[in-house]
Amino acid sequence: MNIAVFASGYGSNFTAISDSIKRKELDCNISLVICDKPNAAVIEKALKDGIETFAFNPKDYKSKKDYEEEIVSKCKEKDVSLIVLAGYMRILDSTLLDAYPNKIINIHPSLLPAFKGKDAIGQAIDYGVKVMGVSIHYVNHEMDGGAIIAQKSFDVTDDLTKDQIEAKVHEIEHVLYPKVINKLLKEGLK
Ligand code: GRF
Repeated sequence: MNIAVFASGYGSNFTAISDSIKRKELDCNISLVICDKPNAAVIEKALKDGIETFAFNPKDYKSKKDYEEEIVSKCKEKDVSLIVLAGYMRILDSTLLDAYPNKIINIHPSLLPAFKGKDAIGQAIDYGVKVMGVSIHYVNHEMDGGAIIAQKSFDVTDDLTKDQIEAKVHEIEHVLYPKVINKLLKEGLK
């Protein structure tokens, strides 16, 4: 099975998925990495792993429909069965959503439906919650809004700094995402 990973930044979740494939814990192939920030660190990481990348600048396109059409055709060329968003900072539109119904998933650093959108961890800290976590969900038109597939929580004590909380979130993400992808590919998508 081929998957495509979409990312906009550092790409630690990309690395976790790719490493899990190398260790043969996750049975699939990343056939494409899509990135909307041509200078993002994830691109170098993908190239190092020998994975084809498509980096684009949305400003070079007339509309979201135009670049999403290009993304869809690249994914179809690579026979992609599942699209995995890993820090991809764009809301998807119908062109992509209709081409891959229930075959696009995302990871978000909060216990959804709480703290959607940017800096979810900062939002949760500001609110003073005592339990935080990670959610993996199907993607729809709404930001961080589709059906939840998996969640994992952890307790937050007052002595934890934001950096420590972020590290904990990433630690959970890097284990949970490859596991959930494997399960979805094995058991079939919704
Ligand atoms: C992750 O925390 C993920 O939950 C969120 O964006 C972050 C991406 O981190 N959607 P990275 O680029 O995978 O390191």
